[in-house]
Amino acid sequence: MLTAPNELHYEVRDLYELTGDGKGFPAMINLSIPGQMSENELRAIEALARSAPRGACIVEVGSLFGRSSFTWASSAPDSTIYCIDPWERDPWIIELENTIPNCPKFGQDAFLRFTSQCKNIIPIRGRSPGDVRSWNIPVDIFFDDAVHYNPFLRHNLRFWLCFMKPGGVMAGHDYGDTWPDVKAEVDALAHELRSSVSTCETLWWVKIPESFIGVPWWTKLLRRYLPTRLLH
Ligand SMILES: C[S@@+](CC[C@H](N)C(=O)[O-])C[C@H]1O[C@@H](n2cnc3c(N)ncnc32)[C@H](O)[C@@H]1O
Repeated sequence: MLTAPNELHYEVRDLYELTGDGKGFPAMINLSIPGQMSENELRAIEALARSAPRGACIVEVGSLFGRSSFTWASSAPDSTIYCIDPWERDPWIIELENTIPNCPKFGQDAFLRFTSQCKNIIPIRGRSPGDVRSWNIPVDIFFDDAVHYNPFLRHNLRFWLCFMKPGGVMAGHDYGDTWPDVKAEVDALAHELRSSVSTCETLWWVKIPESFIGVPWWTKLLRRYLPTRLLH
């Protein structure tokens, strides 16, 4: 059992208890895939993925080479993982390539190679939310690891909230002082939902209450049809 329900920081072993296996799971983690998520954070993703219902819809925005995608997909093998990324070689990614020995050139091909054993991944090449405005599938778990500053971050969180199922989970990376917008937006989201923020290192997640009845229909229409620059 979790010993401190109001405490924001959960230990990984608490997560295992949260999802019903006090002994822990075999890791579904591949640290040889280039990326910035730590082993503990990946273990937390593993536990969240295992808590998803059978046949869940998991959306990941910002997949890079597939480090987190691999863990979502292999930990929830009967779920579908939609991985959305433009797979464009931005300058910071070229810098990252240079810091990792034997790192392949970044692109969708590299992502597909690293995740080739995950048959439940559907890659979507594009930028969220602009390139996925016609989305219409209810989502069990949403994971954001794309752009960590506003207005892009807020647009993504608010767009995907429209598709969240009651009892689902919204999660993401880099909750901390380095990215103040992540902390501010995630805290505001949890407050509005009357939920709370949980963390493992800089991984964050917010449970959508079972009583969540969705966002108003006109909000959904605005988010789908208005140009992103007009949304706040
Ligand atoms: C921090 S990396 C993701 C790291 C990855 N989750 C991992 O485990 O290694 C950020 C990624 O977001 C992608 N990205 C940037 N803007 C995006 C957008 N609007 N929609 C989707 N992906 C985006 C970048 O191409 C990059 O691959």
